Amino acid sequence: MLILGAGQVRQALDGAESEVVEAVRQAYRLHERGLTELPHSVFLRFPDSARNRIIGLPAYLGDDTPVAGIKWISSFPGNVAAGLERASAALILNSMRTGQPEALLEASVISARRTAASAALAAATLAPAGPQTGVSLIGCGVINFEVLVFLSALLPELDTVTVFDLDRSRAESFAARCTARLPGLKVTVADRVEDALAAHRLIALATTASTPHLAVESCRPGTLLLHLSLRDLTPETILAGVNIVDDADHVCREATSLHLTEQQVGNRDFITASLGEILADDGYRRDETALTIFSPFGLGILDLAVADLVRRTADHLGLGTRIPDFLPG
Ligand SMILES: NC(=O)c1ccc[n+]([C@@H]2O[C@H](COP(=O)([O-])OP(=O)(O)OC[C@H]3O[C@@H](n4cnc5c(N)ncnc54)[C@H](O)[C@@H]3O)[C@@H](O)[C@H]2O)c1
Repeated sequence: MLILGAGQVRQALDGAESEVVEAVRQAYRLHERGLTELPHSVFLRFPDSARNRIIGLPAYLGDDTPVAGIKWISSFPGNVAAGLERASAALILNSMRTGQPEALLEASVISARRTAASAALAAATLAPAGPQTGVSLIGCGVINFEVLVFLSALLPELDTVTVFDLDRSRAESFAARCTARLPGLKVTVADRVEDALAAHRLIALATTASTPHLAVESCRPGTLLLHLSLRDLTPETILAGVNIVDDADHVCREATSLHLTEQQVGNRDFITASLGEILADDGYRRDETALTIFSPFGLGILDLAVADLVRRTADHLGLGTRIPDFLPG
């Protein structure tokens, strides 16, 4: 058994944004070709703490070197006030020859980066025509920080960032961290969410809202909304937009905005395509005036793809702790 902690996972992934995006792109392609197994995620919730949850994401990613495993990720929003991160996670990779667990990885870093890589890939694929010079980030936490790092890697012309958070002090410290990490960017804190929505035609939503709260009237025509937190938008907004998902069966669950919309209208006709379909079809042309909304449920195959990249890099660099007698016999 190979055990890799957060520091070692970071060491394997820092500066490897392009490789992570390629691993994510390849996972979407394999999913589109039917070469994956992806049972629904299991949501474990608790009787006396409605906000907390732990999600299990089992998955199989087939190809020449198939991978199987599971991510087990908890969200305890109260952690933030205690100075801890909201999300924490572990991931097991299993051998496809014997089924045995072979590697245990800290997975909050993997999870954040695969989410950001998929958002950046969607931005590069679906963004309005012309150079993308600005982005608004709504929700100033772990995910949107990684989104900015991956957007900067994929969109070299990006130079202006507008951030908004319900908690202004978090927005300000986030802005300072962004400037420290990416000194070429001009980062400003918006006073109102409407100002952030109006500032740029590329917007990433990564809040912890559990019910729709956002009116999008101030968005400019042709805006691309990366709806990573999945529950910010009303069914009316979803119905008015061009909706791109990662997997319709997965995303129309668990009270996401798309799930609420499906419940309201009784069908999924409001979903235009999956990102995998668009990546496989050079002929997709976005509507330059419509609001395009990318809502990725966050597929376990992305975690496996990035975990496998981490394992291969760790093998190469000799990272991690090996426990030869972890399994019996
Ligand atoms: N779709 C995916 O694949 C995927 C993957 C990972 C995380 N997520 C989601 O991304 C979201 C953000 O995760 P995180 O780890 O960055 O969380 P976090 O707790 O680190 O940060 C969330 C931030 O959002 C702010 N916020 C909450 N409600 C807001 C609102 N209405 N308007 C503006 N700001 C608001 C909070 O103050 C906080 O600063 C979560 O909802 C998480 O479930 C999605």
